[in-house]
Amino acid sequence: MQAANSTQNLPVYNYKVVQQFTIMTVVWGIVGMLVGVIIAAQLVWPDLHFNQAWLSFGRLRPLHTNAVIFAFGGCALFATSFYVVQRTCQARLISDTLASIVFWGWQLVILLAAISLPLGFTSGKEYAELEWPIDILITIVWVCYAIVFFGTIMKRRTSHIYVANWFFAAFIITVAVLHIVNSMAIPVTLTKSYSVYAGAVDAMVQWWYGHNAVGFFLTAGFLGIMYYFVPKQAERPVYSYRLSIVHFWALIAIYIWAGPHHLHYTALPDWAQSLGMVMSLILLAPSWGGMINGIMTLSGAWHKLRDDPVLRFLIVSLSFYGMSTFEGPMMSIKTVNAMSHYTDWTIGHVHSGALGWVAMVTIGAVYHLVPVLFGKRGLYSIQLVNVHFWLSTIGTVLYIASMWVNGIIQGLMWRAYNSDGTLTYSFAESVAASYPGYIVRLAGGTLFLVGMLIMAYNVWKTVQLPSVVAEEK
Ligand code: HEM
Ligand code: HEM
Repeated sequence: MQAANSTQNLPVYNYKVVQQFTIMTVVWGIVGMLVGVIIAAQLVWPDLHFNQAWLSFGRLRPLHTNAVIFAFGGCALFATSFYVVQRTCQARLISDTLASIVFWGWQLVILLAAISLPLGFTSGKEYAELEWPIDILITIVWVCYAIVFFGTIMKRRTSHIYVANWFFAAFIITVAVLHIVNSMAIPVTLTKSYSVYAGAVDAMVQWWYGHNAVGFFLTAGFLGIMYYFVPKQAERPVYSYRLSIVHFWALIAIYIWAGPHHLHYTALPDWAQSLGMVMSLILLAPSWGGMINGIMTLSGAWHKLRDDPVLRFLIVSLSFYGMSTFEGPMMSIKTVNAMSHYTDWTIGHVHSGALGWVAMVTIGAVYHLVPVLFGKRGLYSIQLVNVHFWLSTIGTVLYIASMWVNGIIQGLMWRAYNSDGTLTYSFAESVAASYPGYIVRLAGGTLFLVGMLIMAYNVWKTVQLPSVVAEEK
């Protein structure tokens, strides 16, 4: 399927690769969240592994994180960046072959991850668990991706580069650097390698990577999505172009320094921990600048929220973005972190970003994209989008509220001392106190997953609708 408007002499875009990545975003979203629901269930019923090593929590957890971040989130970023770069540069992707290599190469990476992680092959680095041959494959795919994206920007037919592309560009460059530096390892066999770094240096490199995976994979890329799809869906120009430029430079300049907040009270030098904390606090400003720029794009058109659930997904995602980027800086304060670290509070924070921001902005973008990509007049059912919206919102709130409660309970119980200096509670008592929260989280996650299944049905039915002549939307 290709969009053409030859009468206005506009280029014919490569929508095929965008369609492929969009469909796989939905598929991998369901798979990754299903694994999330399974591990949430295992925390309620610990015997749910049926004595199979590959079904154990320790093996499925990295499968969940890799599937939701790199398969679901990754496909969403490839789809939207390939779409946005073509539309805003009024140029077709420079190479269909390379774009196709990016699609199939990335699916191969996901398949290899889905096989190797449950089998227990891991480098032991969080969010970078994949072993060295897969790391090399990722690098090759990424280089092809960069060539297609930047090549298309270079042959653009517009004078300026729209701000969404700036965010995608920063995401592509930074993730390349993070991946290569953090994955440096000495291979021992085909499935085992050891990091070239050791001790505190290894920890610092890992969390410089880990935090910026959040900052550039789960944030900058998705801000690129926000800057294109919010104005498009609201049919308004972005609130402030000037603010978007300030937002961009401030965000990328500050994010990169905040990693040490993951290593408070460790062997990392104290000055580095404090630097991480200060940078995290400053990070609140650009994060909220971006949120305000997105939400205020609706000024004068707030009524659209009443009957457009797709727009609601996009705007509510920004509210969750604002919430998690307020919570993050608070958690980076050392005295707060002394309580929150190791507790479910962190898990709640992660998912207010992951479900509330990343997943919801993606869902909004996919609903916007599907009718355009497949040449339909609109979605099969707006009512179903509405149902999906409420399932996602209620699911996210149940998830994060239960984890806040659990986190505070755990933090307070672990630090309660008797007058003779002994601990007031055993660890098992804190697990028992967390049990109701795990049930509520499972319910919230299940609601979110049901919403994704409804989305898959709606997308499927939309694709089957009769096509209209491709028109510029
Ligand atoms: C149906 C939806 C989901 C459910 C039920 C779910 C459930 C879970 C569970 C049970 C854990 C393990 C928590 C623990 O170790 O105590 C987890 C971890 C994690 N999940 Fe999800 N998840 C869902 C969606 C997502 C999405 C969409 C993303 C990202 C876009 C995500 C990212 C993560 C990350 C990064 C972690 C690791 C957190 C950490 O180490 O602090 N999850 N999830
Ligand atoms: C201003 C922005 C943010 C700051 C300063 C921040 C700060 C923090 C802090 C202090 C922690 C806890 C570290 C620990 O005790 O181990 C954390 C964990 C985490 N945050 Fe954020 N956060 C921000 C935004 C976000 C967003 C938007 C997302 C998701 C899209 C996110 C995802 C995560 C993840 C996945 C972890 C868990 C890492 C792990 O231990 O595995 N953060 N963040």
